[in-house]
Amino acid sequence: MAAENIFKYLILGGGVSAGYAAREFSKQGLKPGQLAIISKEAVAPYERPALSKAYLFPEAVGTARLPGFHTCVGSGGERLLPEWYKEKGIELILSTEVVKADLASKTLVSAAGDTFKYGNLIIATGSTVIRLTDFNVQGADAKNIFYLREIDDADSLVAAIKAHPKGKAVVVGGGYIGLELSAALRINELDVTMVYPEPWCMPRLFTAEIAAFYEGYYANKGVKIIKGTVAVGFDSDGSGAVKNVKLKDGRVLDADIVVVGVGGRPLTTLFKGQVEEEKGGIKTDAFFKTSVPEVYAVGDVSTFPMKIYNDVRRVEHVDHARKSAEHAVKAIKASEEGNTIEEYDYLPYFYSRSFDLSWQFYGDNVGDTVLFGDNNPSTPKAKFGTYWIKEGKIVGAFLESGTPEENKAIAKVARVQPPVENVEQLKVEGLSFASKI
Ligand code: FDA
Ligand code: NAD
Repeated sequence: MAAENIFKYLILGGGVSAGYAAREFSKQGLKPGQLAIISKEAVAPYERPALSKAYLFPEAVGTARLPGFHTCVGSGGERLLPEWYKEKGIELILSTEVVKADLASKTLVSAAGDTFKYGNLIIATGSTVIRLTDFNVQGADAKNIFYLREIDDADSLVAAIKAHPKGKAVVVGGGYIGLELSAALRINELDVTMVYPEPWCMPRLFTAEIAAFYEGYYANKGVKIIKGTVAVGFDSDGSGAVKNVKLKDGRVLDADIVVVGVGGRPLTTLFKGQVEEEKGGIKTDAFFKTSVPEVYAVGDVSTFPMKIYNDVRRVEHVDHARKSAEHAVKAIKASEEGNTIEEYDYLPYFYSRSFDLSWQFYGDNVGDTVLFGDNNPSTPKAKFGTYWIKEGKIVGAFLESGTPEENKAIAKVARVQPPVENVEQLKVEGLSFASKI
């Protein structure tokens, strides 16, 4: 029989934000039975970034597996195992997809027909992948064409990697997934070809000069790169498994495995027409409150005031997922006590790791750019970076292979936004400019 459940606080989504929100609730004071997390996934909240990195590595290199990367280890915090939730009286309602939300009656309904009522709701549904089948790409429903968002996707991909030792992999997309997955597949000794439509990889952040380093480095590692074209079709063998990828420019690439990373889409559909939206996400204030009382939205789905740029934005990265979740919980608890907290004042922070590389970016990638350091991909342990300058001030900073102190320095530069008097001198000073701030 379908059950009815009532919680003072309910988090919809069991990803990164949910884990950090649960920890914050517990810090702020929580009674057993007050909080529940509903998740479509079968496991307790974990640090999603691991899925495109060590989760895919061969055992000889060192593979990450749960329970190793449950939240909140990704930011150096306590690892919240399923037992932790039990101990705190936090209900983890796993393998449960919510298919209907009625914000007016404060009710969620699961696919099995169970209902969940709440006092406060935190929407933390994250993103889903954009699929090539969404654009009716011919043959895109073939077996062995993979996407990566959740742990089940990663498990399917690991099985395929094991089933095709030294096989041929085609990676469609030149963004985060494209770059991290091409590296992971290459580390597994697959023959990897990346395909993307733009003139260089990661165009939403990288300049041509930054991208040239990564493209050169990947080429040195044996990854083949085909730019300026897209996959327009796939042929399958008799078992329905993909056997080749047809490109718009006429080329045909043999493939045992295809990985597609052509972007994400925030999961807001359950709430369409019930809550204000902006820039593709659920609009919130600086405390992650939505247009509906007692309903909050955090992580990938929230479009929030980015105070530093006097703008509203949506951010699809883990640092914001963690911080927005903590901020929303603090705001909920403060409002119960008639208090207020500071507005969220976020400095964008993105990062990636692949092969032996590791970059960090802070701030805004707008305006003119100044490259510093050595971006020759053949230099061992090359270190280089870029500043973005808008209206005479540094607004963004990127650094490859920075030490923790150097990364802190570029974060500070992006936050402080120092004026730049002499661009030529900035280029010469490079990282030491940031270290002085
Ligand atoms: P998140 O996606 O973590 O969680 C959403 C949860 O909601 C999921 O468990 C989902 O199943 C559940 N859900 C959704 N709809 C539901 C429903 N109707 N019913 C029940 N449950 C539902 N960022 C970064 O800064 N550095 C990095 O290295 C990486 N690496 C990375 C790798 C991979 C493979 C991905 C997919 C993403 C990253 N990211 C990243 C991005 C980062 O992981 C992402 O921004 C955060 O996970 C967002 O956290 P959320 O809690 O918003 O969503
Ligand atoms: P993305 O937006 O980073 O990159 C998508 C890429 O696919 C772009 O280069 C785009 O032009 C290209 N593309 C679009 N259509 C294409 C087509 N038809 N054929 C070939 N290429 C096409 O998105 P993603 O890499 O798929 O990542 C998905 C989500 O996961 C994002 O939210 C991202 O932030 C997150 N993620 C983040 C990290 C990180 O921060 N290190 C790592 C992995 C994933």
